[in-house]
Amino acid sequence: MSAHGLIAPHGGKLVNLVAEPARAATLKEQAAKLVRVALGEREQCDLELLSIGALSPLTGFMGSAEFHSVCDHMKLPNGLPWSVPILCPVDDATAQRAAVGQPVALVDDQDRLLAVMTVAEKHPHDKRKEAEQVFRTTDIAHPGVAVTMSQGDTCLAGPLEVIAPRHDPQFPDYRLTPAQTRALFHERGWQTVVAFQTRNPIHRAHEYITKCALEICDGLLIHPLVGQTQKGDIPADVRMKCYHVLLAHYYNARNTLMSVLPAAMRYAGPREAILHAILRKNYGCTHFIVGRDHAGVGNYYGTYDAQRIFDEVDPAALGITPLKFEHTFWCRKSGAMASDKTTNSTKEERVFLSGTAVRDMLARGERPPVEFTRPEIADILIASMRKNP
Ligand code: ADX
Repeated sequence: MSAHGLIAPHGGKLVNLVAEPARAATLKEQAAKLVRVALGEREQCDLELLSIGALSPLTGFMGSAEFHSVCDHMKLPNGLPWSVPILCPVDDATAQRAAVGQPVALVDDQDRLLAVMTVAEKHPHDKRKEAEQVFRTTDIAHPGVAVTMSQGDTCLAGPLEVIAPRHDPQFPDYRLTPAQTRALFHERGWQTVVAFQTRNPIHRAHEYITKCALEICDGLLIHPLVGQTQKGDIPADVRMKCYHVLLAHYYNARNTLMSVLPAAMRYAGPREAILHAILRKNYGCTHFIVGRDHAGVGNYYGTYDAQRIFDEVDPAALGITPLKFEHTFWCRKSGAMASDKTTNSTKEERVFLSGTAVRDMLARGERPPVEFTRPEIADILIASMRKNP
């Protein structure tokens, strides 16, 4: 428990790497003379998460011992559960210029200063190991593996002092930090809060599982991921329109909060489900929804692999409780959302639509059945497809 009576952050203490204004000013001056390290999109997202304590107890990108421990044992070297390496890979030229013991300037894709890292370690980026252990595949058709394989061969690690977690952040009003969501949960008197991770518009199945979860928790945090996603995923700004409309029409604002998660999607299925849970623990949530093929892509993971992986982690050390949901659908026989657990209907009595079928309908300007998507959401998606076919 933390001081507010909320769930304690992972590792016990919420990290904050953002430099005080006076220190930031000094760092900015110094940075002009430093080796510049341009971060990729995934690393920019990770840096923001590190800065605000969403990745507590991490205080920087991982060194070699952490990388191997996480890949091999799903734990940090101190034994705390951790499933996905958080790395700062750089190309050979940058690796040569960055000296151990010396500070480097971390910059974004427009060369704007983000942070200063004092390089404590340079270590080889074992991409193959990362792909095999974390993504469970080395296939570069996998979008997360493709990002890893395109990264540099050397990783930098060391203490960070952050000047700006992100320049021109999208959705600034909804980009709440873990300290901010925690304060809001406290203010609202929520003891138990369930988090919902999503990278999609909220369809009826999503709505159903969030509401089932809310029935047993005080509050619901709708926490869409808005960092790097793959081409073909629905852009975050369109999704945000959907979430606003859906929440206004169909949720109770008294016990539902929406905020965005500025994380990069890795599509690592089971391993990412654990990371997603740890992130939400840091935001102050006690429960976390894990449904069908959580954080999956293509056919790389089994439908419930992301639920089973929680059996490999010590629940007490993880702290946050996964709420596991079976594949849910509209059941015509019961006239309600259901799953295999709750209905005995036949396949024909269930509304199943593939992602491709839904996309095709929307592209034709057709609303999917109301049992699949609320009409208000369908209309936003149709309009966005008209603009960007
Ligand atoms: S994800 O990459 O963020 O997992 P998505 O936004 O589609 O993708 O899913 C958000 C959450 O809802 C995940 O926990 C996922 O497992 C769950 N989910 C999605 N569709 C269903 C469904 N039909 N039945 C049960 N759970 C689902």
